[in-house]
Amino acid sequence: MVELHRLVILISGSGSNLQAILDAVECDRILAVPTLVVSNRKEAYGLVRAENAGVPTAYFPFKPYREAGQTREAYDADLAELIRPYQPTLIILAGWMHILSAAFLQHFPNRVINLHPALPGQFAGTHAIQRAYEAYQRGEIDHTGCMVHYTIPEVDAGPVIAQAEVPILPNDSLADLEERIHQAEHELLVTAVQTVLASP
Ligand code: GRF
Repeated sequence: MVELHRLVILISGSGSNLQAILDAVECDRILAVPTLVVSNRKEAYGLVRAENAGVPTAYFPFKPYREAGQTREAYDADLAELIRPYQPTLIILAGWMHILSAAFLQHFPNRVINLHPALPGQFAGTHAIQRAYEAYQRGEIDHTGCMVHYTIPEVDAGPVIAQAEVPILPNDSLADLEERIHQAEHELLVTAVQTVLASP
């Protein structure tokens, strides 16, 4: 009996990348079981996507910790405790908008991967697509991309698992570029998960 990999996916928004994972699992492109989806935002549509797919969900906001004067590390450690019973072989940050410290990462060494809508070393942090679009308008870059990397405490850094270049066209609106990057992300994330699950 092949022991299937167990995935825990963290989201904060619409969950279109979560959906790409769920679809890939459904058609056996990814041989794994999504065991939990966690969102730090109650209104994240990704929670609906998970429920529709029959995947257990958890809402785990940082706000109560902040209001109680507790540290990010306290939240991160409790998040790890929440996830640990699900025994993930891989934790996927798919549009997860909260920087995770070592207080979380230390519990899952080399088992946390992050998707970022920019190329390695470019536009780390938030609004990466908009910043790439503006850099293109200034003539500083002629393309952008997206990547999946192992998560380390430094934001959007860490060993790269997969990356894809995405062209920027002269008459692109920001929305055009966002759409093109999101399409590339959906494919890249599935490829990256396959790669990680296939490696010893
Ligand atoms: C994606 O572009 C992801 O790379 C970034 O936020 C977006 C989330 O999209 N961190 P979704 O919630 O997966 O649709």
